[in-house]
Amino acid sequence: MHRQLISHLAHADHPIASPVSAANLDRLLTRAKLPAGARILDLGCGEGAWLLRALELYPDATADGVDIGQEALASAAESAGRLGLSDRLRLHQVPADSFEATQPYDLVLCVGATHAFGALADALDGVRRHLRPGGLALVGEGFWERPPSKELLELLGSDPDEYAGLAGTVARARDAGYATVYAHTSTRDEWDEYEWSWTGTLTRWALDNPGPDGDEALAAADEHRDMWLDGYRDVLGFVTLLLRPTDR
Ligand SMILES: C[S@@+](CC[C@H](N)C(=O)[O-])C[C@H]1O[C@@H](n2cnc3c(N)ncnc32)[C@H](O)[C@@H]1O
Repeated sequence: MHRQLISHLAHADHPIASPVSAANLDRLLTRAKLPAGARILDLGCGEGAWLLRALELYPDATADGVDIGQEALASAAESAGRLGLSDRLRLHQVPADSFEATQPYDLVLCVGATHAFGALADALDGVRRHLRPGGLALVGEGFWERPPSKELLELLGSDPDEYAGLAGTVARARDAGYATVYAHTSTRDEWDEYEWSWTGTLTRWALDNPGPDGDEALAAADEHRDMWLDGYRDVLGFVTLLLRPTDR
């Protein structure tokens, strides 16, 4: 089983692929106060949870979703059809950093997908390329709630500078030429809901599908849960920043 399929199965009960609740996703999108006929772009859109909801909240908006994952985009297309949103959503299977648009956007999202560009600063530069003057970015990024131990960094294959603290993350956005105009810091309940859903839904699927695929899915769920409970729980945070470019 490849990683995309594992992720698709694991997200069945929590289609937002970040530790953010549906209510807080709504709050962030509503706070963007998009103009009539808004154009929205999501770089690393996954299964389209943010875009689909944005199209529901802004009924005359149109959107483009970009991802490299075939399963994720197929799922986004299927959900768009079910919700009657297909005519306002275009999906593109290309790397986020090579997506070319003909017109700029009022809102560009990159939530839990900054790694598609490299570091946060690279993602913020990539997002800026697509923004119209006065447009907004919604960027979800990890941060260290507490300094990570050496063991945790090894477990995650990370280095201490991959993330900053919360203040440092806002400073990184400022240094990249953005003002933070609103934000949501994921709560422990949101993290728990996300991780119990990811690991639990995959575990249920594994038990319903005995055999080599089930064994592999169960091992992936166990490994993920161990890494969370014995590793990054309460150490890794997640913040979704609503950003507006400044004149640098
Ligand atoms: C954690 S998921 C976040 C999905 C979505 N933004 C959300 O919050 O529900 C990260 C997504 O980034 C996508 N991704 C990873 N590398 C990418 C790249 N180079 N270009 C586009 N998408 C990429 C993955 O396929 C995955 O769907």
